[in-house]
Amino acid sequence: MRQLAIIGGTGVDELEGLELVQTHTPQTPFGEPSRAIQEGRLGDTRVFFLQRHGSPGTIPPHLINYRANIWALHSLGVDDILAINAVGGITEPMRPGTLVIPDQVIDYTWGRAHSFDDGASGELMHIDFTEPYDRELRLALIAVANAGRISHEASGIHGVTQGPRLETAAEIRRLARDGCDVVGMTGMPEASLARELGLAYACVCMVVNPAAGLGDLPISLHMMREILRREAVEVRQLLQHLLGSRYCA
Ligand code: HPA
Repeated sequence: MRQLAIIGGTGVDELEGLELVQTHTPQTPFGEPSRAIQEGRLGDTRVFFLQRHGSPGTIPPHLINYRANIWALHSLGVDDILAINAVGGITEPMRPGTLVIPDQVIDYTWGRAHSFDDGASGELMHIDFTEPYDRELRLALIAVANAGRISHEASGIHGVTQGPRLETAAEIRRLARDGCDVVGMTGMPEASLARELGLAYACVCMVVNPAAGLGDLPISLHMMREILRREAVEVRQLLQHLLGSRYCA
């Protein structure tokens, strides 16, 4: 049986309904994860939960210790990671309130510790990242979303910027020309680090604002949180269906 971990983003500080069994703070060669990893049961299923922004949720995207987070989950025996990310919407269907299961990523981040390969192993590590998200996990998510009538976009290109500032209108026009559908700050290098360790990784993006220059109002955290609260309910439903179908105890 595969073991699932959830990585929560902005607005997903706890896994509602999680019956806590214990917490873990594994030491890794890269330091400590963002916060203690919760191990618990959701219904009948054992699941791990890690909030990437820490507690009280103040680690900004460019300072998250992505390597420690992924290493720690791997060391606990996790096979699959479902990452939850708040994003801005760029293309037409990606309106605030939409859940997206992206199938591609473009990495605009820089200066982040983005690989476990420190050159010391004597072997070059060139992971295949043609399909950045695990196909089976994505298909399982899409299947349970369809079965549970949870409205979603089943594909999309996830642009990941450095942050912590939001983008300029011109930067968003450039991302649109590149083909990005949504933009966030935390999707990379999380996804490629998971691939380096052989973990199956997929992501659910919650669109919480029109990206810069595309809406009528300035983008504010207040606006994002309002929509996040509503979308978190749907993400929870998605998760429950996924656990029941793929990870039964
Ligand atoms: N840009 C980048 N990251 C984000 C956004 C955005 O508009 N909204 C939520 N996370």
